[in-house]
Amino acid sequence: MKNEVISSWNKNAEEWINVINAGKIASRKFTNPAILNTLVNHQGEKVLDLGCGEGWLTRALSKKGKISVGIDGTEALIGTARKLGYQHYYHLSYEDIIAEQKLPEAPYDIIVFNFSMYQKEETPLLLREVKKALTYKGQIIIQTLHPYFLKTNNLPYKNQWIQDAWRGLPGNFTDGHPWYARTFEGWSNTFKASGLQITSIKEINNEKEELLSVIFTVD
Ligand SMILES: C[S@@+](CC[C@H](N)C(=O)[O-])C[C@H]1O[C@@H](n2cnc3c(N)ncnc32)[C@H](O)[C@@H]1O
Repeated sequence: MKNEVISSWNKNAEEWINVINAGKIASRKFTNPAILNTLVNHQGEKVLDLGCGEGWLTRALSKKGKISVGIDGTEALIGTARKLGYQHYYHLSYEDIIAEQKLPEAPYDIIVFNFSMYQKEETPLLLREVKKALTYKGQIIIQTLHPYFLKTNNLPYKNQWIQDAWRGLPGNFTDGHPWYARTFEGWSNTFKASGLQITSIKEINNEKEELLSVIFTVD
């Protein structure tokens, strides 16, 4: 599974950077400020961005006075993040973390995943590991596609594998990889299995009040 996801990301990294730079994903006009504001308004100062991609969020957080570190499993994206920002970036996969490779520069007040979770059984294993790298009052914050997207895409409302994570995104992406979609109950069970509790849920919509994403805060 790791190889499938990471190899797809390696192939599509350049196109992803183009799409992000050009602001082509319409929903990001809403979801980017939503996650940034959530993090800026959090009392925590030191943030780890897991699956940071080309690093936009780490750079935005630094501008707002937070300390931010980025980790990603896609080498080309980490390379770009290093070129664009002075923040510290590490090339590490979730599988390395599950295998108990220590998180660099831990502990953190906040560990954030912004649209960077794709897996099924590995997700609770990963969350259990990263929880160990939190400070006493630390929290994990996850932004993910709103589970309601299942209904708007005429899919049954249940946890399920979706074949191509790139489908529907503007860009010339190839070699799509699968991702595991969860209902609200599915997320709740995943957090329970990770030894975490939900402390807040924020639902993000666009100007037409169409639901886009959900931001979970857990600890
Ligand atoms: C949709 S992008 C989001 C990037 C960034 N968080 C953002 O907001 O633009 C998903 C990211 O997750 C990373 N990722 C996916 N699977 C991973 C894994 N197993 N280990 C490390 N990073 C992974 C990808 O390399 C990619 O950068």
